[in-house]
Amino acid sequence: MFIKRHSYGVDCPRASEITPRELFESRRTFLKQLAVGSIAGGALADMATREAFAQTTGAQKLAATANPAYVIMDKVTSFKDATTYNNFYEFGTDKTEPSRNADALKTRPWTIAIEGEVKRPMTLDIDSLLKLAPLEERVYRLRCVEGWSMVIPWIGYSLSELIRKVEPNGNAKYVEFVTLADKKQMPGLRSPVLEWPYVEGLRLDEANHRLTLLTLGMYGEVLPNQNGAPVRIVVPWKYGFKSPKSIVKIRFVREQPRTAWNIAAPQEYGFYSNVNPEVDHPRWSQATERRIGEDGFFTRKRKTLMFNGYSEVASLYAGMDLKKFF
Ligand code: MTE
Repeated sequence: MFIKRHSYGVDCPRASEITPRELFESRRTFLKQLAVGSIAGGALADMATREAFAQTTGAQKLAATANPAYVIMDKVTSFKDATTYNNFYEFGTDKTEPSRNADALKTRPWTIAIEGEVKRPMTLDIDSLLKLAPLEERVYRLRCVEGWSMVIPWIGYSLSELIRKVEPNGNAKYVEFVTLADKKQMPGLRSPVLEWPYVEGLRLDEANHRLTLLTLGMYGEVLPNQNGAPVRIVVPWKYGFKSPKSIVKIRFVREQPRTAWNIAAPQEYGFYSNVNPEVDHPRWSQATERRIGEDGFFTRKRKTLMFNGYSEVASLYAGMDLKKFF
């Protein structure tokens, strides 16, 4: 099966961003110590992480420090599953199409414009984004609205680091993400399945939450194209479609922005789209999920957790009716 290989210039990324083997080793030792220490079952995470890392493509490495707050016990999804079972409609609606069609996406040079209600609008290239804050590795669960989930070691830093730099003004209430829509590179744009470009949005406090990750890599490497290279957002307590890929613009706005799936089917996909086992999709239950890679005939589905298990975000929604604001 095809797996995307990156073909960046010899100087990209800079040598300092390439994970030396010793760093991988020290990370493993770190995880091992964690396993022996306070986290019960941490050894499982260690083994799973090692297994997943062993399966990467050999694309450009991206050094990152494992953030112990986000080392979880669940087995990490295999690199192969995470990179061949994708939703990226710009490259086709079938799960295998992004890995087959995204090869041609040119991810350098790439700029991201940050504008709107901010004191310091700016346009940044990928190298500037890579240098903006220390890169962390965070293992997050990703729950798709379709009823499946994965566990992925992402690399990036809190989006709040970038927000701080541009200084939103008092009018900024929401953040809108606009992604690339280039017919020459993205065959899926020929289909009107969604309104292009794919846009997403968050409330400013959601965007500023430390869990919201500006993501530049996964599994120790730069993001594969099919996973949203060169830069995407990951919001682990929301359904996967709230995590826009291949972003070209971030706008700070006064009003709640339109979002791709809400435009396509407003009854089915609300603005908030927090993972919530108690609020069913109109056409199916959201109470359970299938973990990709655990597809044995007798494998029980997993119970879906409120906010995908990230209960620390509950305070963002205090007093809100989450059935109404689904
Ligand atoms: N971003 C863009 N630009 N286009 C898309 O079609 N799909 C979303 C989200 N981001 C999508 C996107 C959906 S539905 C999901 S579940 C996740 O990406 C999937 O991310 P993954 O393929 O890395 O698992």
